[in-house]
Amino acid sequence: MTDDTRAQDSPPPDDGSMYEEKKGFLPCVSRRQFLFMGAVAVSLVALERVIPGRILYAQAADFDRQRIGSLRDLEVGVPVAFNYPYEHPNALNNLIKLGAPGGGGIGPDNDVVAFNTICPHMGFPLSGTYKPDHQVMGPCGWHLSTYDLTHHGIVISGHATQGLPQITLEMDGDDIYATGVQALLFGFADNDEDPT
Ligand code: FES
Repeated sequence: MTDDTRAQDSPPPDDGSMYEEKKGFLPCVSRRQFLFMGAVAVSLVALERVIPGRILYAQAADFDRQRIGSLRDLEVGVPVAFNYPYEHPNALNNLIKLGAPGGGGIGPDNDVVAFNTICPHMGFPLSGTYKPDHQVMGPCGWHLSTYDLTHHGIVISGHATQGLPQITLEMDGDDIYATGVQALLFGFADNDEDPT
């Protein structure tokens, strides 16, 4: 038996040296990581086909602060409509004093919040659907999605897979200001692109 033949017939060393050598050339990628990277690549290609040349971003964005009301004028459970950050139908929002603490809430009771009112599923207008007894927005008139405004607008029923975009608020004395949007507005490819 030649040395070459003996080398082919011998089992691989069990000290890991063979694999250590390979690590120098190939990064170790688990099957799970491989599948995840594949899914990301497929998703990006799919989005590129939906909007050629543009990729959609689920993004938070800061904008110029805008006064949208005052604490003394708010009544518990009565939404106040305002546009932000643009004078655009899809940028219509509700400022609401929930009467119960809410995630991201401001004011002495942390119960003043604001949310966009366009359903993120397919764009049905949710204005007028706020239910003060349960602090929820909805159900949506098309596919019944309902959003919990005490928990950053998460979906609690229906077809939507994304929560309502929350408007970032801050207080200055008694005045309430909007300062940003915490998720992609429906119909927008990028919150930073002014559609007006
Ligand atoms: S458009 Fe609102 S749930 Fe479909």
